[in-house]
Amino acid sequence: MAVNVIKRIEELREIINDHDHHYYVLAEPVINDEEYDKLYKELDKLENDNPHLITPDSPTQRVGKDLTKTFNSVTHKIPMLSLANSYNEEDVLDFDRKVREALPQNEKVEYVVELKIDGVSVSLNYVNGVLKTAATRGDGTTGEEITNNVKTIRSVPLKLGISKSVKYSLNDFEVRGEIFMKINDFFNLNKERENLGEKLFANPRNSTAGTLKLQDPKVVAKRRLNIFLYSLISIEDELESQEENLKLLKQLGFSVNPEYKVCKNIEEVLEVCRKFEQIRDSLDYEIDGAVIKVNSLWQQNILGSIAKSPRWAIAYKFKAKQAFTFVKDITWQVGRTGAVTPVAELEPVFLAGSTISRATLHNFDEIKRKDIRVKDKVVIEKGGDVIPKVVSVVLEERPTNSRETSPPEKCPECNSSIDKLENEVALYCENPECPAQIKGRLEHYASRGAMDIEGLGEALIDLFVDKGFLKTFTDIYELKNKRGELINIEGLGEKSIDSLLSAIEKSKTQPFHKFLFALGIRKLGQVGAQTIAEKYKTIEDIANSSILNDIVLLQEFTKKALSINPRAQINRRKSEINKQLLEIEHRKLCDEIEKMGDRLVRIGWYKKNMKESKNKQTRLTPEYVIQDNKGVGSEAAKSVLDFLQSDKGKEILKKMNSLGIRSSVEEETRKILKGKIFVMTGTLPNLTRQEASELITKNGGMVSSNISKITSFLLAGDKAGSKLDKAKELGIKIISEEQFVKIISQDSKNEDNKPKS
Ligand code: IVH
Repeated sequence: MAVNVIKRIEELREIINDHDHHYYVLAEPVINDEEYDKLYKELDKLENDNPHLITPDSPTQRVGKDLTKTFNSVTHKIPMLSLANSYNEEDVLDFDRKVREALPQNEKVEYVVELKIDGVSVSLNYVNGVLKTAATRGDGTTGEEITNNVKTIRSVPLKLGISKSVKYSLNDFEVRGEIFMKINDFFNLNKERENLGEKLFANPRNSTAGTLKLQDPKVVAKRRLNIFLYSLISIEDELESQEENLKLLKQLGFSVNPEYKVCKNIEEVLEVCRKFEQIRDSLDYEIDGAVIKVNSLWQQNILGSIAKSPRWAIAYKFKAKQAFTFVKDITWQVGRTGAVTPVAELEPVFLAGSTISRATLHNFDEIKRKDIRVKDKVVIEKGGDVIPKVVSVVLEERPTNSRETSPPEKCPECNSSIDKLENEVALYCENPECPAQIKGRLEHYASRGAMDIEGLGEALIDLFVDKGFLKTFTDIYELKNKRGELINIEGLGEKSIDSLLSAIEKSKTQPFHKFLFALGIRKLGQVGAQTIAEKYKTIEDIANSSILNDIVLLQEFTKKALSINPRAQINRRKSEINKQLLEIEHRKLCDEIEKMGDRLVRIGWYKKNMKESKNKQTRLTPEYVIQDNKGVGSEAAKSVLDFLQSDKGKEILKKMNSLGIRSSVEEETRKILKGKIFVMTGTLPNLTRQEASELITKNGGMVSSNISKITSFLLAGDKAGSKLDKAKELGIKIISEEQFVKIISQDSKNEDNKPKS
């Protein structure tokens, strides 16, 4: 009997998996819903009667009952890269030229062109044919585990039937692809949310991302997410081409987008891109371009990757979609740097997957140049996923009552005076304490690319700033002292505050480059911060950086040299004597420029514009330009130095350092407490709480104020409170100050002797 039950359960699982595949992957159902339900109920009953026979890969286990409390971090075995973009056919030809130049001469290059699905990228790990984990891309190196939610997607096979004809072992491999929501499902979801008075999603990609972060898989299952896979990576198996990869994925039962094309040359590629752009509107899901990939995996290997994107692939972004609408008003908003920028308040219009009711106008000069007035009919566009912009005014249809706008004289947020910086079109609120600036700076600081403080988003920051809890970055780390007050705020409560406080503690060990970016230094983006952090190990080193100094001077000298070049138009009519004097001065400057420029070229941050500097006789001003992937232009360099050398900057950094926030590159592997979470209770014999906390973070650990399953150690002193009982209950390791000190002093002595949790 039991054998029969086991057999029938296995048989039913296989039949149901097969029907799921027909229905959700191939869109060719074989049986009707009623027949399907019958099979499902039979399996469900057998499993309920024999719970010991339930396995996680059973079709009944797609939708788990438990909430996902935390989305654990997953480090990708192979980083998830992103793609460089191309916006026109020339860029694509350029890509092809670079590919062929990097490969052995006369190599034939084939390409595969695929649709670029506009969703959320994901990596699925299968071990022995069973789905083990699913993770988001995150920052490319580390993502979040979203297995429970991904299992609810019916086109994701939980178990693979690897047929004998597959020539690879495929014991442990990853498949990568894009999860998305169909446009119709997105609309229906938004309609439902509107009825419930909930906030609407801006587009299908946002609703997919939001859905994948839900804690309840039951809700996720209802949202009808879909997936297309485009890559299988198996360390032990050597595939030959991207085309084979796609075919293999399909053969294994994965959902593969059928629209891909193999092209013999770049002209064919361009034709396919044009065709894809045409079919864009006929698809029931969003795409934002095409992806062009070198077909041969051997060639891909030779080409390799630069920074975060491969040299063997490029995204071809479609032209921006445009729409007509009306300007209802022009308002001014204050950003985190204090920049006061005009915004067009628009008659809502649907464009490329979302409803647009506002568009940035960048600055007042732009309003003047485009002659945009209130009540005008305008053309707006959305390129890729960038913020919509007003392209032009339909002048022929300008109403007689259209109204010109003028820049504000006072900050719209705090009523302080407004400054216009030299050489800049932007207006700035001169008050660094302006609430809009404070909020903006804090939002940026806590954001994902920066300190990544989960839970500290726009709404909470607004609330905390308005209540006077937050003003500076360091205040964030003092929030733990206000726990009592915070948990009493309506809608917050103990649980959410405790997880916020532990996220705050965790952020102290963010990598150095993220910390640098988090400081919100004007003009310094993520890429620039990374470049600088690769070169310098401490904030002090950056403040004294000769490289950044070179960059600033290079720009100043070049500007000066261009203006005194005796052959420049403005100097042509000067007397011969004057020209000779200019020539001498110009030559001196050019030598300096070359010295600095060459230093920057040597470290790979800049490149020399060869055309200009070849001709030594006529001595044109040599030109150095920044490498695309370095992100440290002269403005960024200047503002980094200005900030780090200013009294205010020094004060902020000193305070952060004393709070144990990472302000230098740490040798991560040598950190004995890396990944360990500590909670403290009672009075320690020698160390104050502050001192103990600093020792923990200095050694790579984290301090949390509440005990939970994920706590690694409870550091307990005299008069320990209820935390001690809770730790015992949860089986958390309890250590004394003496044991703690012993552990951290082992760091330099014995590398293998790390604490085990
Ligand atoms: S290949 C290293 N193919 O676009 C190459 N990506 O920045 C990895 N995407 O996050 C990507 N459709 O999730 C590839 N057919 C496709 C894609 C695709 C969408 C997403 C991908 C990635 C982003 C590229």
